[in-house]
Amino acid sequence: MLFLHIISACLWVGGMLFLVFVVSPFVRKLSIRDQLFQEVGRRFSLFGTLGALSMLAITGLFNVHYLLGLSNLADFSSSYTKTLLHKIAVFVLVVFVSLAHDVYFGPRAINSSFYRSMARVLGLLNLLLSLLIVYLAVKLRFGG
Ligand code: HEM
Repeated sequence: MLFLHIISACLWVGGMLFLVFVVSPFVRKLSIRDQLFQEVGRRFSLFGTLGALSMLAITGLFNVHYLLGLSNLADFSSSYTKTLLHKIAVFVLVVFVSLAHDVYFGPRAINSSFYRSMARVLGLLNLLLSLLIVYLAVKLRFGG
């Protein structure tokens, strides 16, 4: 399960880094940029938001079950549990930001500079929040 969890994290975080550093700078120069962003966005929404985020939630809960026990999630005295709860809270935020990006702002970004900027800001925010989750995951590995 931890293996699947890490593969899904690679798909999610790696996909976003690839979009930001490789795809976007190139696509932005093209005349068909809006159509390309729509197509790339729709595909990443399917594999990333729907696929990777669902897998992360499911495998993450299995990790909690095997490593800690779901009932121990309410033990606020342990620093491991506290870090885990922070990680889950940031994950919930990532899900909301992703939905706002993919369902509301992204599809309206075609020929609209306001929605385009919002989609860009939310995309970058999502990358930063996801990197924060990876930091919290590493912290967990060292005991929280
Ligand atoms: C964007 C979402 C997420 C990302 C990028 C992510 C990333 C990772 C990574 C890279 C690890 C391996 C850390 C290591 O072994 O050093 C990990 C471990 C883990 N993750 Fe996640 N994760 C995410 C969401 C979740 C969620 C939603 C949960 C709980 C419901 C969760 C629970 C765990 C647990 C319990 C571990 C094991 C930590 C340990 O080694 O003690 N993760 N995660």
